[in-house]
Amino acid sequence: MQALSQLSYTPTANPKLYVGPMSLANRGRRRRVWMRYHPRARVRPLRALIPAAVSQRGPRLAHHSTMPLPQPAAPAAVDLGGRVILVTGASGGLGMPLALAFAAHGATVVLHGRNVGRLEAIYDAIAAAGGAQPSILPLDLAVAATEDFGHVAGALRAQQGRLDGLVHTAAFLGPLGPVEHQTFDAWQTALRVNVSAAMALTRALLPLLVQSSDGAIVLTEDTRGVAPHAYWGGYAASKAALGAFATMLADELEHRSALRVNTVVPGPIRSPLRNRTHPGEDKSALAPPEALVPLYLYLVAGQPKAESGARIDAQAWLAGQPASTPLVAADALRP
Ligand SMILES: NC(=O)c1ccc[n+]([C@@H]2O[C@H](COP(=O)([O-])OP(=O)(O)OC[C@H]3O[C@@H](n4cnc5c(N)ncnc54)[C@H](OP(=O)(O)O)[C@@H]3O)[C@@H](O)[C@H]2O)c1
Repeated sequence: MQALSQLSYTPTANPKLYVGPMSLANRGRRRRVWMRYHPRARVRPLRALIPAAVSQRGPRLAHHSTMPLPQPAAPAAVDLGGRVILVTGASGGLGMPLALAFAAHGATVVLHGRNVGRLEAIYDAIAAAGGAQPSILPLDLAVAATEDFGHVAGALRAQQGRLDGLVHTAAFLGPLGPVEHQTFDAWQTALRVNVSAAMALTRALLPLLVQSSDGAIVLTEDTRGVAPHAYWGGYAASKAALGAFATMLADELEHRSALRVNTVVPGPIRSPLRNRTHPGEDKSALAPPEALVPLYLYLVAGQPKAESGARIDAQAWLAGQPASTPLVAADALRP
């Protein structure tokens, strides 16, 4: 668990809520928050659900390969009042506008990231705009252990009592270059942050998510995972694995609860990650991350269950082209 002390966190005037365990060094200072918001509730084991889910498998939902996505420029009339949405990487280029938008539409947002200062700035912006009081979830996904994810689920259950949306945007890039220049450690970190932690967090939060009448999981892929190219290293491999995980999850949940699973492939957007992958590029022609907000809003609220299990190409969507393809193979292609 990332220690808050490593981040030199200084409490501010706002009584911010924290989800998750504090470091030992900070427990004294934060004990009241910790005690109040961390009841050590356990995650209900999923094992018992699996046979039922398999036996309930019915015919495939009629999947709309050209799902009626919202117009990119249309203002989203989405009411997220009373809902709780967790955004991983809420301190990032894409996660921040998504978190702000979910809060602006009424949701209680759980802000995940490592950089507490940035998370606090988002918290302050939401509070200043009159949004529902968010929670901050500082958790380093490169080192988080099984019990950390369980603690997050327990704290969310006790603090909010529900979870309606889980939007994964956190990502580790690592070094790009030929395989000979790649390191085992960087691959391990990429796989851990980009796919294993996404699985572990999703797994821990599924019992809450399946209880929502309009629940949604949105995972953020990358073109390099869908179609890997030379030099993209552990990032591409981990994003490909994330796509595989999303596909399995969508398939497993197809006939279980209202919960939807979709992925978004952002393509080039003007964000810090793009600055690292394409440092010399003129970014002025790229869409800002904010342009993707209506798409994510559509996916987290009100989308029909029959549209679950799609990979959405955000650049195609922005261009007004068909943007949705099924994640899960059609019955005919299944063994
Ligand atoms: N930008 C693009 O052009 C582009 C293109 C295709 C796909 N994508 C995908 O879009 C998503 C968002 O990208 P972005 O451009 O917003 O990236 P970004 O600005 O670099 O943000 C990355 C986020 O991930 C968090 N993160 C990184 N390592 C972490 C760790 N070990 N533990 C916890 N959190 C960690 C960061 O938290 P801290 O700030 O606290 O470190 C930050 O919030 C990613 O999944 C990316 O793969 C982006």
